[in-house]
Amino acid sequence: MFKLTRERVIIVEKIDDSGIDLLKSKFDVDLKIDMTREELLDVIQDYDAIIVRSATLVNSELMEKGKRLKIIGRAGNGIDNIDIPEATKRGIIVANTPDSNSISAGELAIGLMFAQARNITKADKSMREGRWDRNKFEGTELYGKTLGIIGLGRIGSLVATRMKAFGMDAIAYDPYITDERFEQYDVKKCETLDELLKIADFITIHTPRTEETIGMISYNEIEMMKKGVHITNAARGKIIDEKAAYEGLKNGKIGSMGLDVHEKEPRHESPLYEFDNVVVTPHIGANTVSAQQNVGKTIAMQVINGIRGEIVPNAVNLPVIHRDELKAVKPYIDMMEKIGKLYYQLFKDAVKFVEINYWADASKFDVDMVNIAFLKGLLEPIKKDKVNYINAKVLAKKSGIGIKFKKYEENYNNYSNLINVKITDVNMKQYTFSGAISMKREGILVEMNGYKMDVTPSEKMIILKNKDVPGVIGKVGTLTGKDGINVATMHVGRKTKGDTALMILNVDEAVSKDAIKDFVKLDEILWARAIEL
Ligand code: NAD
Ligand code: MLT
Repeated sequence: MFKLTRERVIIVEKIDDSGIDLLKSKFDVDLKIDMTREELLDVIQDYDAIIVRSATLVNSELMEKGKRLKIIGRAGNGIDNIDIPEATKRGIIVANTPDSNSISAGELAIGLMFAQARNITKADKSMREGRWDRNKFEGTELYGKTLGIIGLGRIGSLVATRMKAFGMDAIAYDPYITDERFEQYDVKKCETLDELLKIADFITIHTPRTEETIGMISYNEIEMMKKGVHITNAARGKIIDEKAAYEGLKNGKIGSMGLDVHEKEPRHESPLYEFDNVVVTPHIGANTVSAQQNVGKTIAMQVINGIRGEIVPNAVNLPVIHRDELKAVKPYIDMMEKIGKLYYQLFKDAVKFVEINYWADASKFDVDMVNIAFLKGLLEPIKKDKVNYINAKVLAKKSGIGIKFKKYEENYNNYSNLINVKITDVNMKQYTFSGAISMKREGILVEMNGYKMDVTPSEKMIILKNKDVPGVIGKVGTLTGKDGINVATMHVGRKTKGDTALMILNVDEAVSKDAIKDFVKLDEILWARAIEL
């Protein structure tokens, strides 16, 4: 359908032109990087998507005003500036670009470590001041020293690999990962933070900023560290208590600090600048050409999918599906969304309970997203565009719909990837739908309320129930011709000869109410419905 207005995207912090161009090819895009908070609050109502980095607070106030928002794109990794539970409650997708800048951020942390160890910034400054202080800048080798990594995630692990190549002994504290991950990176596991603090010569922080990590390095922790310890933070401000760090620098406990992130950003002055063994950068971990190109393109693609109501691979408020797995699960997601859409277009009674059974190959995935897609489809005919992948579960629960699923390793009859859905309505009447994936990776409807079939559902369909008597197909064909409906495929399924049958027509045009009335005027037709998927 032709749309008169295009969706609108506002970009409030700088992203790479490649991402902006991609977005401009699909939507109206406003690049407004110098807006005040008040100005943003004034205009946000006009936009379907907002793209931010770390400086914009996306809280309930902004979301309340941004009534049209479908997606919040975080061009980068950390999402501590976005109220995720609030976005989920409102059905707004939040997506970031978690892998796109990890290498750059890790390399900057390493750069800071070298600058700290070898007095690079101090030496640079002294030369510019006309001095040749060759003997003054005695540094320390990284080789043979112990590097304590706090948070062995994406960035922490790549820092470990690289610094081990320089001959450092890597140890890490991360209570949320498996022992296998420590083994994979050949990093010694510290059971407690204290253990790491006591033995590390260099400490580098790579955790997210959470309630638990804010102030994680404060007076007590610094007290425990080795004298002359070198501390680097390219993760998030406030993880290190800067007042405690000031004390540590003043009394010589801390040998040097490297900070890319700060308690307050942007920052123009700090008591820490008193010390020339503090190396600071203005949150530039992700500022490389490669990272920004990756981030720009990736966030643009997430926003395009989000506005179009498609799956957003990096959505942080949806089940995480790895890109390769998404390829395999996608046909199931699409099929189950379509099956979900059938119910309220065919039947009227409110749904009370849904049971989904996954058989053989269909049971091999994490099916959370498939369940969500089904619920989205189920609710769409009654909630229209109020439902999306983010809020489908919440809305289903609010509507009193229970859901459970089971997985079976074995085939179901001859199907190696069948999913069947049993819906119980408020009157305890049950309805069943089954779907499978064809060799062409398309979803096919193979059963409905006990009627067997083999139909690839199209966007527009007519489903009707008829008496199983001769001549019905001809009469239906004549009526479609009379109403100008072009039939692409027709399928008839029955349970027993001479009883009733289900007729499914894939058609090219939307079917009018009058056309449906014409069908039910026929004696042989028990009911007929126009379906849009
Ligand atoms: P990640 O989620 O891959 O890894 C974080 C790790 O921290 C996880 O393994 C987690 O288990 C661990 N962790 C969480 N809480 C912990 C705790 N209390 N104690 C110890 N470990 C804990 O994240 P990532 O992609 O590696 O990013 C790490 C940090 O770097 C984030 O704060 C991110 O925002 C920041 N970052 C900064 C820049 C920059 O420009 N400076 C760029 C990218 C990312
Ligand atoms: C991130 O979390 O990705 C970094 O803080 C970098 C950025 O915001 O651009």
